[in-house]
Amino acid sequence: MTMKHLFSELDVAGVRLANRIVLPPMATEQADAEGHPSPATADHYGSLAATGVALVVVEHSCVTPEGRASPRQMSLASDAYMSGHAAIAAAIHAAGALCAAQISHAGSNRRAEMPGRCLGPSAVENPVSHLIPEEMSNSDIVATIRAFGAAAARVQRAGYDFVEVHCAHGYLLGQFLSPLTNHRTDAYGGTPAARRRLLLEIVEEVGAAVHGDLPLMVRLGVADNPPILQLYEGGLTIAEGVEAARALDDAGVAILDLSAGICGSRPAGLTGEAYYRPFAEAVSAAVRCHVVCTGGITQPQTAQEIIQSGTADLVGVARAIAADHDWVRKAREATGH
Ligand SMILES: Cc1cc2nc3c(=O)[nH]c(=O)nc-3n(C[C@H](O)[C@H](O)[C@H](O)COP(=O)(O)O)c2cc1C
Repeated sequence: MTMKHLFSELDVAGVRLANRIVLPPMATEQADAEGHPSPATADHYGSLAATGVALVVVEHSCVTPEGRASPRQMSLASDAYMSGHAAIAAAIHAAGALCAAQISHAGSNRRAEMPGRCLGPSAVENPVSHLIPEEMSNSDIVATIRAFGAAAARVQRAGYDFVEVHCAHGYLLGQFLSPLTNHRTDAYGGTPAARRRLLLEIVEEVGAAVHGDLPLMVRLGVADNPPILQLYEGGLTIAEGVEAARALDDAGVAILDLSAGICGSRPAGLTGEAYYRPFAEAVSAAVRCHVVCTGGITQPQTAQEIIQSGTADLVGVARAIAADHDWVRKAREATGH
């Protein structure tokens, strides 16, 4: 048996990925005032897909207008946005890659000038945006679950191959996971299991909305602090993040796309190759589903070693590929495949 490597194929829930390299979501902020993708965005993703990555994860789109993080973010909050997304999916397929769309609700981690209600699990200051949201009522929670399901159905009809639920970087679902932002005492807070309840209900709703026909990814913030720095006191721990990963695995998620929680994807002061590798090691040891390791991977040898050691099934390489569209070709040469 040949040993798996960076350019080995991978079958995920009936879909074949050509190699182990994923382009992680990177917001282009090119949408119009309502959130319609610009035609330039489809071209942009087509050229990223042509780099030779197996899977392109398209940047976060909001599931409701009030869940929008910034004025130029894309939306999937109604059917009106589907044609723009269909053009993005088609451009990625034409360039030979598979694609996922990331769906998100910013909660209180949004720009202060954004219109509409600023929602969160509890009326406590968000440590990143410093906004104090309105505590979500039961009907707000039900509406949010439905909005994720409806957005996922649009992702499917637009022609994407995967849908990715955003539960990282301190956005709404991460706000529910974190004891820093979730002070609820009802069924959605108080214990780690209650804090992950909304995420699991959304995963169930999304699965039903796509009739089990579109494999599901979750971008999971494994912990609120990076592995080696303490930026926030009392946030989500790695042990709790691993428990959330296990619950998502049991719920049938196909790919866990790992990053961090409130400290974000690129915390200041964290340098070096594969800085979130300890998250991938901890999660891979606990789950059966596929795991993506992302964060600071710039060298092909790092990526190759992460795959060969079994640390993760896939690597996410965002800024290095954005800066050098020849990265995948060079990696093939460097690893001799
Ligand atoms: C400009 C930019 C925009 C980003 N937008 C998103 C996003 O929409 N959703 C998301 O989950 N992560 C987003 N990220 C985080 C990346 O997906 C990735 O986790 C991060 O860049 C670390 O990987 P890297 O070191 O390979 O760049 C963004 C990163 C950058 C640089």
